[in-house]
Amino acid sequence: MSPPVIWNREGEIAVITIDSPPVNALGHAVRAGLLECALAAAADEAVKAILITCAGRTFIAGADIREFGKPLVEPLLPDVINQIEALNKLVVAAIHGTALGGGFEVALGSHYRIAHATAKVGLPETRLGVFPGAGGTQRTPRLCGAEVALRIMGPGAPMAATQAVKHGLIDEMTEGDDIRSAGLAYCQKLIETKAPIRRSSEDTAHLGDAKNTSLFETLEAEFAQKFKGEVAPQQCVRSVREGLALPFAEAIANERKLFLELMDTPQREGLIHAFFSDRQVSKIPEAKIGQARPLNCIGVVGGGTMGAGIATACLLANIPVVTIERDQAALDAGRERIDAALVGAVKRGKMTQEHKDALMNRSWSGSTDYAALADVDLVIEAVFENMDVKKSVFAELDKYCKAGAILASNTSYLDVDEIAASISRPKDVLGLHFFSPAHVMKLLEVVVAKESANDVVATAFALAKKLRKVAVRAGVCDGFIGNRILGNYLKCAYYMVEDGVSPYQLDRAVKAFGYPMGPFEMGDLAGLDIGWATRKRKADTLDPRERTVAFIDKICEQGWFGQKTGKGFYAYEKGVRGGTERPEVLAIIEASRAEASITAKSYSDEEIVERYLSALINEAANVIEEGIALRPLDVDQTSLYGYGFPRWRGGPMKYADMVGLSKVVENIERYAKEDDYFWRAAPLLKKLVADHRNFDSLNQV
Ligand code: 3HC
Ligand code: NAI
Repeated sequence: MSPPVIWNREGEIAVITIDSPPVNALGHAVRAGLLECALAAAADEAVKAILITCAGRTFIAGADIREFGKPLVEPLLPDVINQIEALNKLVVAAIHGTALGGGFEVALGSHYRIAHATAKVGLPETRLGVFPGAGGTQRTPRLCGAEVALRIMGPGAPMAATQAVKHGLIDEMTEGDDIRSAGLAYCQKLIETKAPIRRSSEDTAHLGDAKNTSLFETLEAEFAQKFKGEVAPQQCVRSVREGLALPFAEAIANERKLFLELMDTPQREGLIHAFFSDRQVSKIPEAKIGQARPLNCIGVVGGGTMGAGIATACLLANIPVVTIERDQAALDAGRERIDAALVGAVKRGKMTQEHKDALMNRSWSGSTDYAALADVDLVIEAVFENMDVKKSVFAELDKYCKAGAILASNTSYLDVDEIAASISRPKDVLGLHFFSPAHVMKLLEVVVAKESANDVVATAFALAKKLRKVAVRAGVCDGFIGNRILGNYLKCAYYMVEDGVSPYQLDRAVKAFGYPMGPFEMGDLAGLDIGWATRKRKADTLDPRERTVAFIDKICEQGWFGQKTGKGFYAYEKGVRGGTERPEVLAIIEASRAEASITAKSYSDEEIVERYLSALINEAANVIEEGIALRPLDVDQTSLYGYGFPRWRGGPMKYADMVGLSKVVENIERYAKEDDYFWRAAPLLKKLVADHRNFDSLNQV
């Protein structure tokens, strides 16, 4: 195997090339190779400048995250960078692709930086639960000041090279195809102009920022608000604030200490799990076999909440859309909904008015005649949640759509196999379950029916990519992955409320855990009538052992459906964000508790969250065992992107692993003493405990 880092001399310039696919991450071999090459090149008397470049699609993308949490092996990255910066030969980094995290820190430790105009640079470590720990929190503020540095490092978003030039983090840009040649020419220029060796660590221009207490306080408050519950952005502020007041070597030592503290946190573990799950989730069997079909034009049946949102999502991805509605008035209303959503995009600066007008006039069309769908490649049905209505729509699609067109249903709960079996081409059918608002929410459940063809599934994943959504493969069952699991922990929330907890305490406890909303706020937002209809639909099939609670239906019977009616669990006023608690709701709950002869008990916030998540994890284990979710990570992704589970906890299955599965089973068995029908530990959970395994062991398939 050839070494991942080599160097060769071209005249007076030593060129170090890092070639470690896919992204030149700084694993041990790369760190060691980089240092060895830099020292050897510097020792060559004929060398006047050292150019660091990368082969392949990108400059160094950062530390090798797979090494996180494992024992550290020298040379460590901060030492490698310090030694490179200390060299007495000019060192230049030539950046293409993305220079991120430790990769950008290597560049900041170089004496000069040239980047391709299309390159992106950044310090995204806080998104992984750490901060730039190889000098980034010290060299960046020394180069561009504490405020700019923290506005880069706190959120961790990459920036364009042009922006980095403005901040003085990049010295030179090139638009030529060959970054290596541009780097060589730049080195030559620096040699000829006798450019001095310039070390970021010795830049004193911004050291005074250390005294700017109010700046640090403002940023701490801002980050606390923006990154609720996350420790890394706060620790990053601390490293900059303390480091600017220290001599550089001490500042680096302090940075190291604070960085290692973050390495040990569950947040780091959770965020890295989420990072890898983001990449694993699209690796599904059908996508490996099937070749995506073309996706040039999409049909959407229904212009209501979901149909309009789906059409908007497609238009935002520049895919032309044909909307079908049942009559002209409904079609006009659908058009208005789409138009309003695009106006929102213009208001938020996401697109120009001209672009919006062009989308509505040229990329969107509507009809009440299914013949308008003759040429579309894929149709998404989003009509009323009723099997007969869905089947009648699919019969029309079967009649009018061209051969090879994919026919998808956005149903939330209905049996996609039954829909597929009702037409002549079941292989072309699958579920595409979007979340509301469909042009905003990232999750797309791809519901694979019994007969769905591999290329149909592959096309659904390709569509998600175009729409910039996260596709999760799901099997057919009532509620698929997300809504089925949600149903279970919502029941648990209702039980706790009937047992004595106020819905407001429950919402607060769940938010303190990291969810953006509690289940009752969420119900008010989505519309309490939706759950009411589902409960009515399932009433006849309920197992007699299942506990039912009365208060939730009683609230619906008042016509209190949540935000859309101004009242639900909370009261809402027009133009005011959020709602206020309602004594009337508490009175209904108390009455239904009395009717059920329940004596109210109190639960601590910890107990509330423990029960709530136990219900989630237990049903998720069933969903995995039944093959509805392919792997635990698919449940994690569903929860992160569709249900507001805090990313820094990795996902509920990762969280369960961190709590310990035996503890989860122990809790469930304790609750089962109160209700042994609802609280039955999932067989998979018990099996994993017996085998001393965790959910993550099932992700490696
Ligand atoms: N370490 C290990 N593996 C990495 C990696 C890293 N830093 N970055 C990417 N990979 C892996 C991915 O897991 C993926 O593996 P797979 O093919 O087995 O799924 C493969 O490289 C390709 O990655 P992507 O699919 O993400 O490729 P893209 O071209 O879409 O994106 C990228 C490239 C923008 C570089 C993106 O991978 C990325 O954002 N990477 C992470 C960058 C980052 O966070 N860097 C900071 C690391 S922490 C650090 O540096 C600490 C330091 O301060 C001490
Ligand atoms: P909606 O009531 O807002 O819209 C349904 C639209 O379908 C109406 O505009 C109606 O005129 C149209 N329609 C009804 N029958 C039709 C027919 N035969 N031909 C053409 N158009 C017809 O409903 P919503 O909320 O958009 O839901 C649609 C589907 O999406 C349902 O299956 C629902 O379960 C599912 N869904 C809903 C979510 C939500 O949060 N509202 C989330 C995810 C899925």
